[in-house]
Amino acid sequence: MISFSVAFDPNRGIGIRGSLPWHLKDELKIFKQNTLYKNILMGQTTFDTLPRKLTDRYITVVSIDPDYTAEDAEVTHDLIAFLKEHENDETEYIVCGGASIYRQAYPYAKKAYISFVKQAYEVDAYFDVYDENDWIVSKEVDYPDFVYRELKRKGADMTRKDGNIYVPFEDRKGNESIVYFTRDISPAGIKKAYEKVNANICGKVAIKLHTGEKNGPNIIPAKWVKEVMESCESLKDATIIETNTYYEGDRYTTEQHRETLEVNGWTFCPVDITDEEGTVDLPVEGGNWFDHMTVGSHMVNYDSLFTLTHFKGHTQGGFGGSNKNIGIGCADGRIGKAMIHSSEKGQWATREEELMEKISESTKATIDFFGKHVTYVNVMRNMSVSCDCEGLAAAPVVTPNVGILASTDICAIDSACVDLVHAMTQEQHHDLWERMQSRHGFRQLSYMKELGMGNDRYILIDLDNDEVRISAKEAVKDVIPFKRVEF
Ligand SMILES: NC(=O)c1ccc[n+]([C@@H]2O[C@H](COP(=O)([O-])OP(=O)(O)OC[C@H]3O[C@@H](n4cnc5c(N)ncnc54)[C@H](OP(=O)(O)O)[C@@H]3O)[C@@H](O)[C@H]2O)c1
Repeated sequence: MISFSVAFDPNRGIGIRGSLPWHLKDELKIFKQNTLYKNILMGQTTFDTLPRKLTDRYITVVSIDPDYTAEDAEVTHDLIAFLKEHENDETEYIVCGGASIYRQAYPYAKKAYISFVKQAYEVDAYFDVYDENDWIVSKEVDYPDFVYRELKRKGADMTRKDGNIYVPFEDRKGNESIVYFTRDISPAGIKKAYEKVNANICGKVAIKLHTGEKNGPNIIPAKWVKEVMESCESLKDATIIETNTYYEGDRYTTEQHRETLEVNGWTFCPVDITDEEGTVDLPVEGGNWFDHMTVGSHMVNYDSLFTLTHFKGHTQGGFGGSNKNIGIGCADGRIGKAMIHSSEKGQWATREEELMEKISESTKATIDFFGKHVTYVNVMRNMSVSCDCEGLAAAPVVTPNVGILASTDICAIDSACVDLVHAMTQEQHHDLWERMQSRHGFRQLSYMKELGMGNDRYILIDLDNDEVRISAKEAVKDVIPFKRVEF
């Protein structure tokens, strides 16, 4: 898909003597937020006159000069061929000027990020082809010096449909984060993994985990969590946090939920049902679907968040990793979860890419709230294709247990778990892989990356073998057929 990002004044002016006519800090911030980790395209003049290098973006420069080269950027000499090649891609290519490039790219663009600068400036370059009748405004924010709008071209279908396509590690672009891995699936394994990523967990700590439906057979055992909390200094006074469910079951009301917590053994530390007294709205920066997410009101009482996730399949999300644990698990039981799951077509009508994107935006609201004080451990054990919400009705586990992963990067840890499932043999991963793919679950990963939530590339560190870097294949090479072990 082609889109463009531009700022113009009331006369459609965009530049003067090769530079921007204005210096608008908020506008530059929006530009950065919209383009970070994305593919961007700009003319040679614009590229050569950038006041500072644009990092963490995949830049293509358009130049007529066959000998032109650009530092840290690709070069194309045929703009129209480039636009034609990418106009139907699922990946977004953002045209970032200048005047001649905007003019030629305009007919191909389906989406636009425009800052309408309020004051008129002295200009010599224009975005003269823009016609407001071509567009529908999907978002508008008023700033002192400009009005920012996001627009979709009338009649354009922009929903991505590639959430069922797995992108192999070697085809991904961008930075790498660290993901730790141990095969030791035990409280000691969780502790070992957590202690690698807990540097910023301090103050009043919330642990978000799935406490499960009554007697759910696959959840991380309460006894294990108790042991981990007792042995890790930063977790000694932590509180487990949960929210009520959107479906009518054993955790629909606070009263039912408390009874279920008791049955499942979550009695050794405080469990805060964060939405029992109401809700709070957290902003979603850069979201396509939401500008806020509604979460339990108690959420804002915590300084740090430890996301302890049972990684497994999920009936609608394809898989449940850290993203699903937070995105669904922190949204409150009546408003937030309805925003994610429901539409005028029904309570559970939101599916596939739209669902993955909404879950990820919800997660972003929470992790942005905690800033650097959030960390993730995913436990790849008892991986049914069903979520822990299905309790005793969950499909029997057939996928081998793999291990425990830890990272401070949510996109990296969930990407690594998906890669580890992928790296198993067809016989080993068949059911879980089918569940992820058929629900278009991979869109969780690509969308988290687009939202700037993290990297889908990572360095996998083997905690069991001198902390050397290993591949996903090496991590799963000794897995054995699943056998249920009771605790
Ligand atoms: N306000 C904003 O949001 C914004 C954003 C970006 C830039 N700007 C402003 O825009 C101004 C620059 O605009 P500009 O039009 O002078 O320069 P430009 O669009 O940045 O770059 C033009 C370059 O692209 C080449 N080119 C154009 N069409 C091509 C094609 N079809 N195939 C291959 N090469 C092609 C041109 O070659 P030729 O020389 O042969 O034509 C020239 O080298 C600056 O003032 C800048 O600050 C404003």
